Amino acid sequence: MITIALPKGRLGEDTEKILLETGIISQGIERDSRRLIFDVGEGIRAILVRAWDVPTYVEMGTADVGICGKDDLMEHGADVFEVLDLGFGGCTMAVAASQSVSREELLGRHFLRVATKYPRVARRFFDSLSLQTEILKLYGSVELAAVTGLADCIVDIVSTGATLRENGLHVVERIFDSTARWIVNRKSFYMHYDIVSHWTAMIKNYIQGA
Ligand code: PRP
Repeated sequence: MITIALPKGRLGEDTEKILLETGIISQGIERDSRRLIFDVGEGIRAILVRAWDVPTYVEMGTADVGICGKDDLMEHGADVFEVLDLGFGGCTMAVAASQSVSREELLGRHFLRVATKYPRVARRFFDSLSLQTEILKLYGSVELAAVTGLADCIVDIVSTGATLRENGLHVVERIFDSTARWIVNRKSFYMHYDIVSHWTAMIKNYIQGA
């Protein structure tokens, strides 16, 4: 049995489409049900998890392979093989602040209070600038922290940029670009080498032909 960790939401739906169209799986997931485990092919099951939990399931070996964003992978720091960049689900991890604050002014300060869903990424970035910070971990609508003054700036993913624009914020610094990644548990990579490398090649061909 091989287990695939699929993230809930758009990333998971796009991946499921690829897995179906390449014939890696033969049955889709019933997204209108509350079930979390699905038989999707002979000897293949899919588990439906929150995107940021995918690295945990794959690192621990509960899932052999999985799909998650580079953003979640960087934050988690999971010890997994990052086998393929799927190219979709693109977004940018960025520092953002009020439009009235320039990059020079913000990064020139001695101390910053930073709100984020990605404390590890934020810590690493500001440490690399030797900037003293207090990192506040939030769980959603991070932009609000910069608008209300809870924080001087935020570290968050920017996709269309609409949330920043509509809240009077702007990107101060891009930290890295993120796309969806196909990740593999280290033991499974060797135990299921033939099937995993075959699937990886099929997905790669599909993406290149798309
Ligand atoms: C994400 C992210 C930003 C927004 C960026 O939040 O944290 O808030 O999307 O997208 P945009 O650039 O296209 O506007 P999400 O929608 O996951 O909700 P959350 O903040 O409640 O986690």
